[in-house]
Amino acid sequence: MKKILFAASEAVPFIKTGGLADVVGSLPKYFDKEKYDVRVMLPKYMCMKEEWKEKLSYHTHFYMDLNWRKQYVGILELEYDGITFYFIDNEYYFNGFAPYGDMYADIEKFAFFSKAVLSALPVIGFRPDIIHCHDWQAGLIPVYLDNFRYGDEYYRGIKTIMTIHNLKFQGTWDTKRVRDITGLPQYYFAPDKLEAYKDANYLKGGIVYADRITTVSNSYAEEIKTPFYGEKLEGLMNARSNCLSGIVNGIDYEDYDPATDTHIEKNYTCDSFRREKIKNKIALQKELNLEQDHHIIMLGIVSRLTDQKGFDLIAYVMDELCQDAVQIVALGTGDEKYENMFRHFAWKYPGKVSANIYYSEALSHKIYASCDAFLMPSLFEPCGLSQLMSLRYGTVPIVRETGGLKDTVEPYNEYEKTGTGFSFMNYNAHEMLATIRYAERIYYDKKRDWNKIVERGMNQDFSWKNSAKQYEELYDGI
Ligand code: ADP
Ligand code: GLC
Repeated sequence: MKKILFAASEAVPFIKTGGLADVVGSLPKYFDKEKYDVRVMLPKYMCMKEEWKEKLSYHTHFYMDLNWRKQYVGILELEYDGITFYFIDNEYYFNGFAPYGDMYADIEKFAFFSKAVLSALPVIGFRPDIIHCHDWQAGLIPVYLDNFRYGDEYYRGIKTIMTIHNLKFQGTWDTKRVRDITGLPQYYFAPDKLEAYKDANYLKGGIVYADRITTVSNSYAEEIKTPFYGEKLEGLMNARSNCLSGIVNGIDYEDYDPATDTHIEKNYTCDSFRREKIKNKIALQKELNLEQDHHIIMLGIVSRLTDQKGFDLIAYVMDELCQDAVQIVALGTGDEKYENMFRHFAWKYPGKVSANIYYSEALSHKIYASCDAFLMPSLFEPCGLSQLMSLRYGTVPIVRETGGLKDTVEPYNEYEKTGTGFSFMNYNAHEMLATIRYAERIYYDKKRDWNKIVERGMNQDFSWKNSAKQYEELYDGI
């Protein structure tokens, strides 16, 4: 039995700000239980919902040095859906209203978390063969492990995998402070180790010291070796390319299933979507005060509202797009400029544009189920889960050909009658608009072909089955 420990800063259903949580919360369930004992370690945030905090049971606690600081480390535990989740408790570090706050505090918070993960292992009696670290928040784990190994036999032989969900976020701060926080020897603060461009860089440390590096799609694994996508680490990504691979994300096919979803008005399947899916659209039009017209094409957006997701393109052509027979339903939070952009267009085009500037699991499911098409014109996209959810719900993705979007959405070919969505290549607003308009034409004038696109999308398999196998092979190979 191989023992694997996931270390990450978020996981559904406990705490979520983006796709990372979906991956960390669902992937562990899909490993072969006979061969792999996969457990998960997370911070115990004060901002977690009461319903979850209540369920955690106290396991143990100890005190840990973080350089000159002495910190309490509590370990709480919960078995959920057959998976053991451990929660690292420290009210000083994990007390904010959200998992992440300002970088100054987060840098210390996740140094604490990373060291606590390693320090907790002998105490909880779970010595993993592999620690699977996710994103910069867990980036110091391979570095600390390297450091621990010198003094403590217990840690020798534990391997690490670093999965990059988003290279944009690296966790950087000035070297002097990070030395003071971590207590790591000067040795690590060099340009071939933790340091990048004079700062300490947690993700870089993870990438340098991990035994294997993965990212969440094949295209992104290639892209990050180039300056445009490499976020200034393309040199390192090239240097480590022998150990770097892409494994595309899946989604939880039980949580996201139009046949059983309790959030939506009317359940449907691949056989019944032609009759039933439209009932969801009508219900959502009512709920959001949109014009009640089941013929009109409804475009959905569910997203963090950041530059990454291509909202500049949308802002640029929104007026033009709104001259068409379309409805646009957006759900998201993030940068104020984009929140206000959607609020503005909802005010300008009432009945046509609906701006929902908040976080809602329920509304997100309704949007995936109700819309005809889903818009995701990302500037870059390591994998993207929203387009997979859309495919699952028979909502046709319109995407830019980048990263995971390129790997998961096959562009419609009118002549060969293939494809599951629509896509465009350049980061250009009118190229996007032309693609949306092409989709509109197929939707309005060739409904049979449109429905075939929907059907092909619903028949795709983006469950975790295939990708979990690839992770298993990776675990077996190191
Ligand atoms: P990223 O991780 O870059 O944000 P993904 O497409 O991988 O992008 O994952 C986004 C996840 O977050 C999806 O599950 C999506 O449904 C969800 N999501 C984003 N914004 C919201 C919101 N405002 N309300 C509900 N769910 C949201
Ligand atoms: C990141 C990426 C997104 C990916 C998610 C889960 O948030 O932005 O593309 O799907 O991580 O891996």
